[in-house]
Amino acid sequence: MDISPRIAVIDSGIGGTGVLDAIRQLAPWADIAYVADHAFGPYGERSLDQVRERTEVIARYLDTAGVELVVIACNSASAAALHHLREAMPETPFVGMEPAVKPAASLTRSGVIGVMATAATFQGTLFNDLVGRHASDVQIVTQACAGLAAAIEAGDDVGDLLDRYLEPMVTAGADVVVLGCTHYPIVRIDIEARLPDGVVVIDPAPAVAKRTVDVAHDAGVDLKGSGATWWWTTGFTPPLRPAGDSAISGIAWEPIDIPDGCPRAVRIADTTLSAVTGDITAMPVDAIVNAANVELMHGGGVALAIARAGGPAIDTESRAWIETYGVLEPGLAALTSAGAMPSSYVIHVAGPIWRSDADNESLLAAAALAAVDMADEISAATMAVPAVSAGIYGYPPDEATGVIVETIAEHLSETETTLHSVRFVGYDETMTLRFAGALDRLVLEP
Ligand code: APR
Repeated sequence: MDISPRIAVIDSGIGGTGVLDAIRQLAPWADIAYVADHAFGPYGERSLDQVRERTEVIARYLDTAGVELVVIACNSASAAALHHLREAMPETPFVGMEPAVKPAASLTRSGVIGVMATAATFQGTLFNDLVGRHASDVQIVTQACAGLAAAIEAGDDVGDLLDRYLEPMVTAGADVVVLGCTHYPIVRIDIEARLPDGVVVIDPAPAVAKRTVDVAHDAGVDLKGSGATWWWTTGFTPPLRPAGDSAISGIAWEPIDIPDGCPRAVRIADTTLSAVTGDITAMPVDAIVNAANVELMHGGGVALAIARAGGPAIDTESRAWIETYGVLEPGLAALTSAGAMPSSYVIHVAGPIWRSDADNESLLAAAALAAVDMADEISAATMAVPAVSAGIYGYPPDEATGVIVETIAEHLSETETTLHSVRFVGYDETMTLRFAGALDRLVLEP
């Protein structure tokens, strides 16, 4: 049965796992994707605009994966982006985190509550609105806990940080402490050990889970799935899990390759397609595609960059290929190693020299198809593709990027593949945005 996630829980790392567990308690059969944005996090240390842009890219990606409700299980991201996301994507229900100031104000007897959070959470208007509405009559000791979420994420010892951050609220006589970042419940035991007996610690996860289920019901999201959890990380190699935290160690992360700075990513079947700016010769993927010529003479453009970065092996193996197979006809791909580059293979394809009287589109589509067929042949998991023919060969770049993206996307939607990620690489932001536009059109005109 082809199951796919209906709900997604997003955090910059493992902080949101407490929220996921709380949702699981209420909706054990829901199909849920947990997204750890390792390639970008921690959100608390990014500007509000960066967090807004990033969470929208992730949310739009999840929309193409079939997700119908998104939980922003991070206080900093909620403070920065929740309002923006609801405006940008009105058709998607979002559930956010907010520091449990309201319950804390109703619980306190000493009239003093402590709130631990990131600086970003305290900066957002959300927090000040909360205080104004629910806690104007109590004393609030706020503590921005710089570095705490990152230390928890990395599994470092947090004792000294907690001593420093909890001391002011203990001194002020707080009898309720709010954990205002989803990472903090992971070290709840260490926090409680530093508070006087009787102090209440509030973790907002159960309340957020209840809200999620209510919103899901209102939105008609089916919570009676197979109970599957997808563990997605935006980075290729997430940091090692903290050894002591059994709840989160040993997670089998599946990479959804959405590099920092990526303006658009979509999911087709089980493959992530992304638009990325950069130098293809430096990308840590299994295979990079070269925009070659039929003689494999790498004299300019990306071909020259590949020949230089890869070293002599590229030309040597290219000469051997031509000796054996002759010129590189349209629809064929030549394979060489990647030499000194971080990738393992170079898939050489010859796009068409654009001519007004030629069938440019089918020639370019044949080159793109040859590249993705070769990637499957070598069982590549990750591949990076430049704007073939859109340079020296003069193919109008808007059309070229569209043909390349549509051809590869169509292949992936119809064919079993080993590829879990394909990066469409612009050497400059302008070309990347053309690839991003082509990915958008995939979604809008499926
Ligand atoms: N990383 C990613 N993209 C790059 C890089 C790089 N290091 N260098 C160039 N590009 C981009 C260019 O900016 C362009 O958008 O690759 C795209 C393809 O441009 P060309 O390399 O000129 O390829 P093409 O238009 O297909 O012309 C192929 O040029 O390089 C020679 O030997 C090649 O004769 C062949 C012809």
